[in-house]
Amino acid sequence: MPCSFSIQYSGGRSSTVHVGPGVVDGLPDLWRTAWREAAIIGDANVIALHGEALAGKLRIRGMRVEVIGFPPGEGQKTRVTKEKLEDELLGRRLDRESCIVAVGGGISLDVAGFVAATYLRGVPYINVPTSLLAQVDAAIGGKTGVNTEQGKNLIGAFHQPSMVLVDSRFLITLPPEEWGNGLSEMVKHAVIADRDLFQRIEARAEELRTPVSIDEKLLQRCVEIKAAIVQADEREAGRRRVLNFGHTLAHGLEHAQGHAISHGRAVAIGMVLEARVACSLCGFPAEEEQRLRRLLLYLGLEIHPPSLPFDRLLPFLAADKKRRGGTLHLALPSRIGEMAGAEDGYAVAVPLDLVQSASEMRGCSRRGPP
Ligand SMILES: NC(=O)c1ccc[n+]([C@@H]2O[C@H](COP(=O)([O-])OP(=O)(O)OC[C@H]3O[C@@H](n4cnc5c(N)ncnc54)[C@H](O)[C@@H]3O)[C@@H](O)[C@H]2O)c1
Ligand SMILES: [Zn+2]
Repeated sequence: MPCSFSIQYSGGRSSTVHVGPGVVDGLPDLWRTAWREAAIIGDANVIALHGEALAGKLRIRGMRVEVIGFPPGEGQKTRVTKEKLEDELLGRRLDRESCIVAVGGGISLDVAGFVAATYLRGVPYINVPTSLLAQVDAAIGGKTGVNTEQGKNLIGAFHQPSMVLVDSRFLITLPPEEWGNGLSEMVKHAVIADRDLFQRIEARAEELRTPVSIDEKLLQRCVEIKAAIVQADEREAGRRRVLNFGHTLAHGLEHAQGHAISHGRAVAIGMVLEARVACSLCGFPAEEEQRLRRLLLYLGLEIHPPSLPFDRLLPFLAADKKRRGGTLHLALPSRIGEMAGAEDGYAVAVPLDLVQSASEMRGCSRRGPP
């Protein structure tokens, strides 16, 4: 059963979210008359598979629709790509009454959303996530941006999509190796906000291991969790920080590996390392850390950092520390479903040596059912 709801932000802004198989077919009816033209932007893989079908739905309305692709991959999530897309839009004379339709995985949405944030000082956009990761996470919340030499997502803007269409039918064409990236963020949502969801993922782990068989209720629940968190704290002044669980170390790993590891897979490793830190600092129970590892392993995710000496992570963590007032802060759980440090805006100060010892520990790697 499709579900629809709206996320409310300050100043009367809102994003309407539709979740369910086939919701994208509703696009022509959901389109606003104020949007006179459309530019569909996504990476070349997704544009080749879904770009023209999406454009066809909008051309029914008799308007001009431009379809623009860019090369796929984390290495393309750059200012250079953004600039090229902007030149394309300017060259095709898209004006301020245009709406951008961002289609694809998290990379496509982050880049196209950032283009929308600054094109002609900002135009509206719609997110059509097509990877599991983008459906449960990246499509919601309006964080847009690109990477630089110094790290991930360092240049960007908060720009909320007017609409988000989470249609699980896109997952049929998703390459199987991308599946685990989405599962990783689903587990993160469960750890940070919903103990019951964690149990449900454990109970369905066997079927979730198989790409494409996504339970619509689980998908909806993940979207709702993300929506509730960003509605409570759009600009990440406090509560929204919980979404960073596993991410500080994940971003370090991604950076140190030159993006040879995908985001979701890095997040799985980051969660295990940060959960160990949480055991020492926040009373996160050791048996829950074991549960988390078992689940991630069973879902097909690696949990050990690929042979990466801590000193390669250090410069990244040091830079992160510097940006946050000289202390490394992590979002850490106190138990599955609950985050520590609510009184300090969910940012727990962590000594670097604790992260180092966590990253050097090797624990159980059994791959049995959770
Ligand atoms: N803005 C946010 O709130 C937020 C949240 C989480 C992650 N992210 C970002 O998202 C990015 C990772 O996203 P991702 O894992 O979706 O990677 P991605 O965008 O690279 O997509 C993965 C691969 O799958 C392909 N693909 C996507 N959907 C497809 C489909 N339906 N059929 C065929 N191929 C398809 C893409 O072309 C790509 O090659 C990272 O850069 C991360 O930082 C952003
Ligand atoms: Zn993430």
